[in-house]
Amino acid sequence: MKQWIDKLRQERTLRPEEFRQLLTGCDADSLRIINEQAREVSLRHFGNRIYIRGLIEISNCCRNNCYYCGIRKGNPHVARYRLSPESILDCCKQGYALGFRTFVLQGGEDPALTDDRIETIVAAIRWHYPDCAITLSIGEKSKESYQKFKEAGADRYLLRHETANEEHYRYLHPENLSLTNRKQCLYDLKDLGYQIGAGFMVGAPGQTMEHLAEDLVFLKELNPHMVGIGPFIPHHDTKFAEEPAGSVDLTLFLLSVIRIMLPQVLLPATTALGTLDPRGREKGFQSGANVVMPNLSPVKNRKQYELYDNKICTGEEAAECRGCLSRRVESVGYEIVTDRGDSPMMA
Ligand code: 5AD
Ligand code: FES
Repeated sequence: MKQWIDKLRQERTLRPEEFRQLLTGCDADSLRIINEQAREVSLRHFGNRIYIRGLIEISNCCRNNCYYCGIRKGNPHVARYRLSPESILDCCKQGYALGFRTFVLQGGEDPALTDDRIETIVAAIRWHYPDCAITLSIGEKSKESYQKFKEAGADRYLLRHETANEEHYRYLHPENLSLTNRKQCLYDLKDLGYQIGAGFMVGAPGQTMEHLAEDLVFLKELNPHMVGIGPFIPHHDTKFAEEPAGSVDLTLFLLSVIRIMLPQVLLPATTALGTLDPRGREKGFQSGANVVMPNLSPVKNRKQYELYDNKICTGEEAAECRGCLSRRVESVGYEIVTDRGDSPMMA
């Protein structure tokens, strides 16, 4: 086990079988060792700085039916909403006053959010907040659409690959979705000059250590600017309702592996991690994470954006989340910075 950590540190990658052995050896001792090493790497590249991004959940309408997701199309119990452009701009206004310089517009693949509407919203944010980064996270689109969003002013795009294994991808998604298309989207986005984020759920139903090894190999190859990983958490209205949640420790272990493998990567301590463990995000920073994405969505809609059960921060105002996060970040010796926090890979 220790040998693979050393090799990972030296060569910044491993062979699939070595990754598998490394992950299989995740126990309290190895977790402590790899966390320490990842912290060292973070400290060298980012100091004790944690970047914040304001997350705005713009729509919970989705044409897809991913089996793990609470807001999938096939769930009749979701009260659907879509924020108006005015409401989105209002979230940005609140966020800007709280020091946010990145806005992440996330939503389901909502057919009513046409390219034109997205472009209009992005252009408006770009106009009002020229010093802010605009991140989109609205799923699979054509390269032409991605290009239009870019021209309207978007800088970054988050699209988790979910799993790099074909068979596992089909286990998690209906037939009309394919890993090939997902990957194509990521390469298109990269090609267009976006800062891109990929990622996956830890402990997703049907996931094996071999799959996780494939995820790591894919991430190394893709070399994204950001990697979002969090534990899978079951949602009561999905067919995976009775599946166990992912492991917090394995998530922390993987955060450290990714930090060591991609030293410059932007790595969020996710809301899912904070949902499964009250100190999950703090533990995330101590494992190499350097980003948090507190919620700027209108409080009245937050409960409706329930990808999984018991999601935290659904009752708090933006300012409360911001304050709460500052305290959490500081409690483990880090500090929040309020610049755009562009990927060092862009420098
Ligand atoms: N548990 C944890 N994460 C989830 N996501 C979707 N459903 C769940 C769940 N049940 C993640 C997916 C998606 C991101 C927006 O949220 O990885 O890409
Ligand atoms: Fe939202 Fe703590 S970060 S309440």
